[in-house]
Amino acid sequence: MRDPNIGEILIQADELQARIADLGVEISRDYEGREILIVCVLKGAVLFVADLMRQLTVPCEVDFMAVSSYGSATRSSGVVRILKDLDGSIEGKNVLIVEDIIDSGLTLQYLMRNLRSRGPASIEVCSLLTKPSRREVEVPIRYTGFELPDRYAVGYGLDLAQRYRNLPYVAALTDAAIAAAS
Ligand code: IMP
Ligand code: MG
Repeated sequence: MRDPNIGEILIQADELQARIADLGVEISRDYEGREILIVCVLKGAVLFVADLMRQLTVPCEVDFMAVSSYGSATRSSGVVRILKDLDGSIEGKNVLIVEDIIDSGLTLQYLMRNLRSRGPASIEVCSLLTKPSRREVEVPIRYTGFELPDRYAVGYGLDLAQRYRNLPYVAALTDAAIAAAS
């Protein structure tokens, strides 16, 4: 039986994989002749980065960063704290930030400022999902998988209170589940 908190499926597993294959082609073409340092933002982007990396034909390294933004369960406050920093230096490297979802843009704005100060050769963003209608600050997203309406989504890395990351698709929560969490 399906979890009663899970509502409509927004993006099916096969649609995710098809789009990620296209992103892999596009990114590989753009970075031809260069190496990529992927900065995966934990934990939500883990499933996405694992699938995306397998579609890249240019040399790449991966490093991980964990940030937490203070706020309620379903809204970020823009005050960001680094929980886990990168293991290595990004100086002189072509950084590709891989994110699960850009909502207000506040987390990414902080992250880009922070990483830019470390002297990378270039810095671009690849986000699987974006909710343009919720944007509070402008952030440059070079590669986007899918646009979502203003609904809280879970699955394929996205959580509600750390659950549902393992779903192979992206789904909306039911209104009752959102009300209970916020
Ligand atoms: P922002 O700072 O508002 O752009 O939010 C960024 C982070 O909030 C994302 O990286 C997610 O971790 C989380 N987030 C935003 N919207 C959703 C959602 O619909 N489902 C799950 N997590 C979300
Ligand atoms: Mg995230």
